[in-house]
Amino acid sequence: MFESISKRLRESRKIVFVTGAGISQESGIPTFRGKDGLWRSNDVMKLATIDAFNDNPKLVWEWYNERRKNVFSAEPNLGHKAITELEKYSKVVVLTQNIDGLHQKAGSSQVLELHGSIVKIKCTVCNYKGETFTEFLDIPPLCACGNILRPEVVWFGEGLPQDLWQEAIVHANSCDVMVIAGTSLVVSPANTLPIYAKQNNAILVEINPDETIMTSNMDLSIRSTSAIALPELVSIFKQ
Ligand code: APR
Repeated sequence: MFESISKRLRESRKIVFVTGAGISQESGIPTFRGKDGLWRSNDVMKLATIDAFNDNPKLVWEWYNERRKNVFSAEPNLGHKAITELEKYSKVVVLTQNIDGLHQKAGSSQVLELHGSIVKIKCTVCNYKGETFTEFLDIPPLCACGNILRPEVVWFGEGLPQDLWQEAIVHANSCDVMVIAGTSLVVSPANTLPIYAKQNNAILVEINPDETIMTSNMDLSIRSTSAIALPELVSIFKQ
């Protein structure tokens, strides 16, 4: 089985990665649902919904400021770098649920941030959008128009930007191999991407120390961390 998948990998014209918080765990950024996950010690309904933000923007911004500090000091790990290296051997597109920018920092050239980006902000009223790379001293931060700024991320209960989601589906529908790394696959619509790929006869490879709800759909499930397994995946192309 592994030999046939290695052959498919080496012959692949396009590899799509679907990544989640687990790929950044070895960069020191906590996951959401793992044993030390953020949703284990924080109430998602108070921190990651539009209602929570409207009810208490200061609390939500305090949490995001803390996450920004963590992200700005984080560096890409061997998993991120392996994905970048694969661009030497195949077309690679990264569909990430992460907002930490570590794929881009590692040099990946085509990254779709399905859930937004922690550096991006936008006004809650006017159409101002911007990027900032330091924590905010005064929170909640205000726009020049006087209204509150918000992180440009997708909160629970909000939809993904339609053009971005349609583009993600096009990539899922047109890859030979989809590698699903570091995600529990419990959040939609990102967790439907492997289904699109499978419908187009792509090989599904899962990299996760734990089983997920979609493990049984995978052609290969590698019970390992991404910083260990992804460099090994690259070595297949060097044989
Ligand atoms: N390498 C690979 N996978 C890992 C590692 C690691 N070092 N450490 C943990 N994992 C796995 C966990 O076993 C888990 O299956 O990564 C997965 C992380 O799952 P979640 O914490 O649920 O994160 P994610 O799937 O990215 O969540 C999706 O939910 O809260 C929202 O918007 C948020 O984008 C996020 C979305």
